[in-house]
Amino acid sequence: MTSTLTTTLTTTLTPTVQGKKHKSLRKARLSFDEFDELRDPRPEASDFSVICERRYARRSFLGGAAAVGAAAFVRSVANSTGAVRSALASGHGWLDFKPIQTSTADTITLPQGFSWHRVISWGDPMWSSTPDFNHNTRGNGASQERAFGDNCDGMSFFSRGNTQLLVVNNEYANLEIITGNRPDGLPANDDDVRKVMASHGVSIVEVATNNGQWRAVIDSPYNRRITPATPMSLTGPARGHALLRTEADPSGTLALGTWNNCGNGQTPWGTYLTCEENFNGYFLSSDPDLAITPEWKRYGIGHEDWGYNFARIDERFDIAKHPNESHRAGWIVEINPFDPQSAPKKRTALGRFKHENAAFALSADGHAVVYLGDDERGEFLYRFVSSGRYNPSADNSELLAEGTLAVAIFDDNGKGKWMDLTPETTGMSDAENRIFARIAASKVGATTMDRPEWVTVNPRASEAYCALTNNKNRGVKPNAGGDPTPTNGPNPREKNNYGQIVRWRPAGGDHGAETFAWDLFVTAGNPSVHSDAYAGSANITQDNHFNSPDGISFDTQGGLWIQTDGNYSNEGDYASQGNNQMLFANPASGEIKRFLVGPKECEITGATWSSDLRTMFVGVQHPGEGNGESHWPDAGNSVPRSSVIAITRDDGGPMG
Ligand code: FEO
Ligand code: CA
Ligand code: CA
Ligand code: CA
Repeated sequence: MTSTLTTTLTTTLTPTVQGKKHKSLRKARLSFDEFDELRDPRPEASDFSVICERRYARRSFLGGAAAVGAAAFVRSVANSTGAVRSALASGHGWLDFKPIQTSTADTITLPQGFSWHRVISWGDPMWSSTPDFNHNTRGNGASQERAFGDNCDGMSFFSRGNTQLLVVNNEYANLEIITGNRPDGLPANDDDVRKVMASHGVSIVEVATNNGQWRAVIDSPYNRRITPATPMSLTGPARGHALLRTEADPSGTLALGTWNNCGNGQTPWGTYLTCEENFNGYFLSSDPDLAITPEWKRYGIGHEDWGYNFARIDERFDIAKHPNESHRAGWIVEINPFDPQSAPKKRTALGRFKHENAAFALSADGHAVVYLGDDERGEFLYRFVSSGRYNPSADNSELLAEGTLAVAIFDDNGKGKWMDLTPETTGMSDAENRIFARIAASKVGATTMDRPEWVTVNPRASEAYCALTNNKNRGVKPNAGGDPTPTNGPNPREKNNYGQIVRWRPAGGDHGAETFAWDLFVTAGNPSVHSDAYAGSANITQDNHFNSPDGISFDTQGGLWIQTDGNYSNEGDYASQGNNQMLFANPASGEIKRFLVGPKECEITGATWSSDLRTMFVGVQHPGEGNGESHWPDAGNSVPRSSVIAITRDDGGPMG
């Protein structure tokens, strides 16, 4: 998430850490990463000699291209006609529509010939015993535990027999909205904290159509809320490790809950993967003198939380009392949505970091491959390969328990490799390589990236794409581990406000291969403001420009959907870019067309399709997060609510 917190940080912090600095931030709008950096400042400049060295190396590589400047380089890379491009020639689907203009309206805008309706919103009851959402109280702890969670993000559609389930992440809550009825816009009592806590996690909802409109099936036996309190098992190499043991769980095998669930993944054996991203911001220390370890620092854990104050009702979130609890978050969690009694499984084999999503593929010889981004400035791109092989006629439920975790190293010449994180390569134990994957990856020289958000795998070609959303620190500051972040191949622009999408094609078309070829599919930019590299690549025009690609998803036909979580100020560098949006791209030609614009101050995130492909479900997250200018999707002066919408073609045709 990038999303902004209208900072409500001060009053919920422990009194001893409330300082002038934080008071001055009260009304500022900060991203979570920005708050972490303010709390734990990084040096202003990364290792200058390294930057110079890299620049020199790049100039030699660019040869003639350097003479015409970085803009030409970026544009030519994005429009390359090399090996990657030729592999894409066949099989993409191309949805026909007339692209739309940007917009700042507080509504959903779609091309002619398409319609949308709301499926479910934050606070909508999932059981008949729960009251409808109340715009005055905004719910309470008990109602929220039995209602759809807040800030819908990644989601997947599941179908079995006549049962259709929508499984949706509920990433976090905007305190200024969910507790906006309190004097300071902050949780005012224990029940407020309980409500906020219960708005996090995952919502599993049976859905069905009624007169062409998708609706939740109230009281379905499959309906389930998974929250920060739901028991789940710790599996894999770190299970039972001393760093995972707590007073309540001396075995280190049973954790409570999941929170800050960002993107998602889906396995061919019918399970859902939810990804714990900014898990750190929920921990605080009641002891202001507690020494913050380098490991905590690397993961953004310090004395202060982001204002949620979970520790007020659950001391697990106090690192002074329970130092190992934070090691039990930051994982991929596997959920069986068709078994409401099942305990979700935290998969330590897939590493611990700020997980964006989990993109599934199969290697040529049948191993499960999961691509994983770590969304923070200058962090890394990972790949997991299972030890066992997928067998459609066998039980695959423990396939993600064991395997190899590797990190991407890109060179500047369009090639790259996966470096395994093992005791031999890192000098750390197997369990430590998973628990402190960031530290392990730094040790092997992983390529610092411009905030890896979603990865998606093309079903029609052997290639994967990753959205690198933006990175204002590129070339300016090191990452949280002190790794310098000079510009590099897939991250070519300093102070990168706009972001880019990198794609790679594994050697031999095998997602299990050790090496790959890469290029940039697009560098986002604003050609109405800039004429240099910040105008974007050649496939960015006055008609389709955007900033901060985040959610990316291929449809079954090989069409690429790009969702943005960017700056919607509509001014300065972002002039005429309007509200956040969703675009449709042709991976073979590079053409990009704007398909949807969301309401004010929202992010568009999460995409999945009905079994018949005639409906595309899309998430509209945190409308009204910043200045409260949105009242979407309800009427009048209502509280804005994150919602899942369904999009269909008026001619009844497929959506992907
Ligand atoms: Fe929750 Fe990186 O987005
Ligand atoms: Ca978000
Ligand atoms: Ca995201
Ligand atoms: Ca984002």
